[in-house]
Amino acid sequence: MSVTVKSQREIELMREAGKRLAETHMKMREVIRPGISTYEIDQVGRKFIESMGCIPSFLNYQGYPASICISVNDEVVHGIPKKERILHEGDIVSLDAGLIYKGYHADAARTYGVGEISPEARQLIRVTRQSFFEGIKYAVAGNHLHDISNAIAAYAESFGYGVVRDLVGHGIGRDLHEDPQIPNFRQRRKGLRLTAGMTLAIEPMINMGRMDVWWEDDDWTVSTQDGSLSAHYENTVLITDNGPELFTIEPEGMRDDD
Ligand code: MF3
Ligand code: CO
Repeated sequence: MSVTVKSQREIELMREAGKRLAETHMKMREVIRPGISTYEIDQVGRKFIESMGCIPSFLNYQGYPASICISVNDEVVHGIPKKERILHEGDIVSLDAGLIYKGYHADAARTYGVGEISPEARQLIRVTRQSFFEGIKYAVAGNHLHDISNAIAAYAESFGYGVVRDLVGHGIGRDLHEDPQIPNFRQRRKGLRLTAGMTLAIEPMINMGRMDVWWEDDDWTVSTQDGSLSAHYENTVLITDNGPELFTIEPEGMRDDD
């Protein structure tokens, strides 16, 4: 497959998909507390997505058994929600969600603390989020894809963190995963030239320790090899001539940047 440039109509549909996904994340964030199970959070997300007439895009994707990927502490991504997986004070939890609205996908992830968390965990979450924003400073038509990758990596590595290499961001649109792949680690090549109308899911996954990951026996859950904490932050982004537009960002005042 090759990289698709979206029409104005497609952009409008993806903008609406993104807005609905941002609302879904805000709903899920409200219920995070010590004592809740990852299954319950998945149900909140799935029901909200369906209540808007949208489709939870992860459900049954390559056999994935839930609507939201919920990854706790040393789990990097693709944790499977479970009734018996209870969140505890001090945990960090990554929620990755996707939906389809009128045939178009949105994809976004957030990492939150559960109750009070350590200053180190808080820094990891904040730096992971900021690495995304460092990356998208380069998300302008005329720049190159790997300008984004390099900026993400340079920022996260300046804190001594491990940047995950086994999973990458991706183009998005009619399909959840379109070309190009978007690595979060340093690249020697420039990568493709960005043009207005490209839509990208940019998603740094950052470990407090080493970059290495392994797949658990369920064949989905990706965890850090050294057991260190991991955070994830993702938005669906439109490239324009003037810079990025974030389809999946919460409205001003509702963001997790404080
Ligand atoms: N959100 C993931 C991504 O960004 C996709 C999850 S795949 C699923 O690529 F199967 F777990 F749903
Ligand atoms: Co994604």
